Amino acid sequence: MPKIIAVCNQKGGTGKTTTSINLAVYLAVEGYRVLLIDSDPQGNSTSGLGVDKNSIEKSLYHVLINHEEIKGVILETKIGNLSLVPSNIDLIGAEVELVEEQEREVRLKQALQKILGDFDHIIIDCPPSLGLLTLNSLVAATSVIIPVQCEYYALEGLGQLTKTINLIKENLNPVLEIEGVLLTMADFRTNLTTEVINETRNFFGDRVFETIVPRSIRLSEAPGFGKSIYEYDKNSIGAQKYGALAKEVLGTKDQGIAEPVDRDVPRTTTSLKQGPVEAEGIMEPGDPASPVSQ
Ligand SMILES: Nc1ncnc2c1ncn2[C@@H]1O[C@H](COP(=O)(O)OP(=O)(O)OP(=O)(O)O)[C@@H](O)[C@H]1O
Ligand SMILES: [Mg+2]
Repeated sequence: MPKIIAVCNQKGGTGKTTTSINLAVYLAVEGYRVLLIDSDPQGNSTSGLGVDKNSIEKSLYHVLINHEEIKGVILETKIGNLSLVPSNIDLIGAEVELVEEQEREVRLKQALQKILGDFDHIIIDCPPSLGLLTLNSLVAATSVIIPVQCEYYALEGLGQLTKTINLIKENLNPVLEIEGVLLTMADFRTNLTTEVINETRNFFGDRVFETIVPRSIRLSEAPGFGKSIYEYDKNSIGAQKYGALAKEVLGTKDQGIAEPVDRDVPRTTTSLKQGPVEAEGIMEPGDPASPVSQ
């Protein structure tokens, strides 16, 4: 039985897609068979992995609405061990069309039954809403990662999200747990980041991941090239942090962050190693005053 992790926050732009892509890639790099499901009509996980969302023939829509086999929709990615269920704007239709359907909230869970043996981890990138696509994701999942952006109003809506998770756990999916809350886009030079970290820890206690993802130019650039941070700049601070997050999820964080290995990585990444490396100016507590580079 794979771990099925929904990456969920109904607030927009908190780092769900960035976390989904990079966690999926790092789990694959660690040698696990990983499936990333793009459950957002924006299709950002699809394009962020270099797949042209406008030219895909089949998407999650066909699985949820037409009852098509999920196997027929899965694409292999350029990362070894990592497969993708792509999505695009068509998926907006699913949100509407599902309303009339029987057992509308268990469509994804049912679709996954036949492929559970094929993967060690399934990551679901949820849309920024608590509609039927998110409901399907939370019913299919075994746990939830909640990315929280270190910004104003970061905690707004989290009460409603945890209430929703609890309701789903009580009524539809008793195994559902909060895997962890991930603080993202932290800028340790600001008091705001410190406040959000403290408030989130007060609210969620030890369910907050130790790993905090800093604001990083490299992380924001990577999807524009259709690449994960591992492919785009594996020495960057963002890459290190998503590697560390994967370790936390695997429960192996005390073994240190493995230097990612190249065995499953396409040749296209090698040229990046020689490319120019840009300082990001991201600092963490205890870091020397100089900006952390790369
Ligand atoms: N740690 C980071 N540092 C800098 N930029 C980031 C970081 N994480 C994400 N971003 C950027 O912030 C924006 C929002 O991130 P992302 O798309 O991952 O959020 P999301 O929660 O999936 O958004 P949506 O709710 O629209 O699906 C993107 O442009 C992304 O590249
Ligand atoms: Mg997204």
